Amino acid sequence: MSTPSLLILPGDGIGPEVMAEVRKVIDWFGDKRGLKFEVSEDLVGGASYDVHGTPLTDEAMEHAQSVDAVLLGAVGGPKYDVLDFSVKPERGLLRLRKEMDLYANLRPAQCFDALADFSSLKKDVVAGLDIMIIRELTSGVYFGEPRGIFQEGNERVGINTQRYTESEIARVARSAFELARKRGNKVCSMEKANVMESGVLWRQVVQEVHDAEYPDVELSHMYADAGAMQLTRWPKQFDVIVTDNLFGDLLSDLAAMLTGSLGMLPSASLGAPMANGRPKALYEPVHGSAPDIAGTGKANPIACILSFAMALRYSFDKGDEATRLEEAVNAVLADGLRTADLLGQDGAAPVSTAEMGDAVVAKLSASL
Ligand code: NAD
Ligand code: IPM
Ligand code: MN
Repeated sequence: MSTPSLLILPGDGIGPEVMAEVRKVIDWFGDKRGLKFEVSEDLVGGASYDVHGTPLTDEAMEHAQSVDAVLLGAVGGPKYDVLDFSVKPERGLLRLRKEMDLYANLRPAQCFDALADFSSLKKDVVAGLDIMIIRELTSGVYFGEPRGIFQEGNERVGINTQRYTESEIARVARSAFELARKRGNKVCSMEKANVMESGVLWRQVVQEVHDAEYPDVELSHMYADAGAMQLTRWPKQFDVIVTDNLFGDLLSDLAAMLTGSLGMLPSASLGAPMANGRPKALYEPVHGSAPDIAGTGKANPIACILSFAMALRYSFDKGDEATRLEEAVNAVLADGLRTADLLGQDGAAPVSTAEMGDAVVAKLSASL
């Protein structure tokens, strides 16, 4: 088999900082586990805009289409807030998702034992938590037409359109049911069928796919607002949650805080299988470019490191090595190492981004 290819897009703000730590981890797997990757790098977001005047060049887009997996840091920042909407850093990321057709966004929220005290919720509510949010990523109100800001009489009107086709709902529902079968065998689908027609269709199609193809999986439906409430009340009732693009964006940030910090949450964005059987895939932390701490060495690299673990599992069929990496992270946290975002209850002095990356690599070495 040829060497698998990995495109790294560090992006903006803390993106390059956390990605530098992932590079150490990638190198470790190459040196110590014989897991070699053909790693290349390109620009996305503001970093691309600064050089090329666009948040993603056609060349970078083609590059992303040609590799086995893409690993992205983060995009955006206040410097780019004044830009026209069409060239904002976030558009580069949205283009990648859309053109690679990465419709299933897996956002796990797992509470590491050592961090059960760090959640804003009580320890017994979050200890042992392991849920998976599957967010539809290529449609819905993020992409629906018509959209724009228009003049209507003597005032402006801002328009976005929530739009879902049956096939878009069915394919992400299948992703959820498939994944549930490998986990707790339970799916909860969230929408607003009480007020939105797209929600009514969502509920119907998820139920139909279930009844026809996955009757063995336990399925429930919940309104997304009630889902947000239930996620904070008793999150352990959930196994897999499947929801649309916008609700998934909100609910996954909420779920991130259950685990202690946004700096802990990885994600995988998966599309249809390529010729080699692997899904088209992009891996990225759930957090953004964190402009408030960029350049200070305070960023937590764990979300990005765990995103690489997801790449090992979902793109490269190396579930055992992914588990090795996740256990290394767990061990570092159990030792009490904390980046600044995780400070609080146990009063440890914070370690820097690079120190956290080094500690994970040291734990990997200790695992041999
Ligand atoms: P953010 O996730 O960048 O930051 C929210 C808060 O969490 C900040 O206080 C930040 O310091 C903290 N934080 C985030 N990641 C952290 C980490 N790894 N370690 C320690 N602390 C961390 O969200 P925001 O402030 O709403 O957005 C900033 C910019 O990032 C915006 O331009 C936004 O569009 C963009 N953004 C990009 C992505 C992405 O690239 N996928 C995701 C979300 C937001
Ligand atoms: C995320 C981010 C993105 C989104 C932005 C940066 C386009 O918030 O990945 O969650 O809204 O999807
Ligand atoms: Mn988001």
